[in-house]
Amino acid sequence: MPSIPKALVVFFAVAALLCGGHAHRKDHAASVYDVTQYGAAPSNRDNRDAFLAAWRAACGSTAGNSTLVFPKGTFAVGAVQFEGPCANRGAPAVVIHGVLQPCAGGGGCHLSDDAWITFSGLNNLLITGDCTFDGQGHRSGKPKSKTTTLVLEDVTNSMLRGLAFVNSRGFHVNLRRCTGVVAEGLGIHAPAASRNTDGVHVGHSRHVRILDSVIGTGDDCVSVGPGSVDVVVSGVTCGPGHGLSVGSLGKDGGEQDVRGLVIRNCTVKGTTNGVRIKTWPGSPPSRASNITFEDIAMANVTNPIIIDQRYCPHDRCSDADKPSQVQISDVTFRRIEGTSSGPLAVRLLCSEERPCTGVRLDDINLTCGDVPCRSEFSNVRGPLVPVVAPAPAPGSSPTAAAGGEEEEADVASRVSQQLGRLTWWLPLTVRGFVQEGTTKTEGRLIF
Ligand SMILES: *[C@@H]1O[C@H](CO)[C@@H](O)[C@H](O)[C@H]1NC(C)=O
Ligand SMILES: *[C@@H]1O[C@H](CO)[C@@H](O)[C@H](O)[C@H]1NC(C)=O
Ligand SMILES: *[C@@H]1O[C@H](CO)[C@@H](O)[C@H](O)[C@H]1NC(C)=O
Ligand SMILES: *[C@@H]1O[C@H](CO)[C@@H](O)[C@H](O)[C@H]1NC(C)=O
Ligand SMILES: *[C@@H]1O[C@H](CO)[C@@H](O)[C@H](O)[C@H]1NC(C)=O
Repeated sequence: MPSIPKALVVFFAVAALLCGGHAHRKDHAASVYDVTQYGAAPSNRDNRDAFLAAWRAACGSTAGNSTLVFPKGTFAVGAVQFEGPCANRGAPAVVIHGVLQPCAGGGGCHLSDDAWITFSGLNNLLITGDCTFDGQGHRSGKPKSKTTTLVLEDVTNSMLRGLAFVNSRGFHVNLRRCTGVVAEGLGIHAPAASRNTDGVHVGHSRHVRILDSVIGTGDDCVSVGPGSVDVVVSGVTCGPGHGLSVGSLGKDGGEQDVRGLVIRNCTVKGTTNGVRIKTWPGSPPSRASNITFEDIAMANVTNPIIIDQRYCPHDRCSDADKPSQVQISDVTFRRIEGTSSGPLAVRLLCSEERPCTGVRLDDINLTCGDVPCRSEFSNVRGPLVPVVAPAPAPGSSPTAAAGGEEEEADVASRVSQQLGRLTWWLPLTVRGFVQEGTTKTEGRLIF
């Protein structure tokens, strides 16, 4: 197209802005739905009906670009679901300035065990504001429920930006069956001792981005569950908590596969795990593949790098002795450095029935305080990429192969150890293994 029409378009756009300012503001004002205009008030009573009335007006508005506003103040509300679809297949922008708290119970206040605040069946939703979702979960000891603070269900092309969450009773944010959701600039805080308070959980969702957030809870900072495809977690500072996790997988039968995850540019501090994949013992078949953890800084993390296919929290698993049938493949751990607070810096404990395949450790540089760093591998299978000039490891004997040939390796329950620092230089890890008989294989780790 020649440039004149484009210039005309710009001209008219600017003219519209300059001349139509008044009309524009009026339209804008007309499309703002303030919950207090629908009867909501800062108080302990349940504001659910007022919130829903305001939502129905905003959601039903055909004017376009409507905004649902929660002004400053502390508003109580019971379980509430903001449902779509809205007019024009979009959704209002939701701007929350106040504090939301669960209502105190009684007086018709209804709390749910599943979700506290739900947005469902929506496209083009934005939730933002300098708000706080205060779950009040861990004020006086044990929470009574595992209620998730904010659930997005069947939501597409949407964004959560700059929201703050404290003390959820269960997960803080759960994305279920979502496509194309970006969560950025979240702040999520709960005590280290609060159980099941995952920061952000993703399940049965695609094309999800969790960016530039600070998360510290009593459970996983981010957990990526069954059915997750193309999920990127980047710029997350995690701790306290249980780290950045894939899983748990295989708790139920018929779970959908997990694939295409990237966890990068994150800092993990004072957590029990750093980056982790966990599957239950005895879990039915499914797959987890194409998972990359890279550019992760660890500070004082008990298990910085861990695959655990016998994940059994609280030691209560009916199938504790059975291998997991979740097949883990194509997992890369790259450029991970920092400090481990435990001696086992790397633990890759895969299923004897479905050994992990295509696992790469590349540029891992971890220290374990005053004790030697150790690593532990079981049922990890290559092909392992050729080693490029491994750093000489003091005290290690020369290894068999020196070529660069790709080899298949099974490393069964080996523990390797090096004083002080555990470092992998370029790509990889296990080589010079010797096959002994039919069942037993051995490997040596090169650092
Ligand atoms: C809504 O706002 C966007 C950008 O702010 C604009 O492109 C779009 O045309 C607006 N839609 C309506 C229906 O006013
Ligand atoms: C890495 O994450 C930090 C936030 O922790 C962010 O400020 C920075 O821009 C990110 N860098 C890249 C290359 O994404
Ligand atoms: C692995 O996942 C990433 C991120 O979703 C994707 O871009 C890439 O194409 C996937 N690779 C393969 C081989 O599927
Ligand atoms: C490391 O983390 C542990 C808890 O895992 C904590 O007790 C200890 O104070 C931390 N040390 C440092 C140096 O942060
Ligand atoms: C390993 O990390 C330490 C800092 O923790 C750094 O001083 C050292 O240069 C790193 N080594 C390599 C080979 O990157």
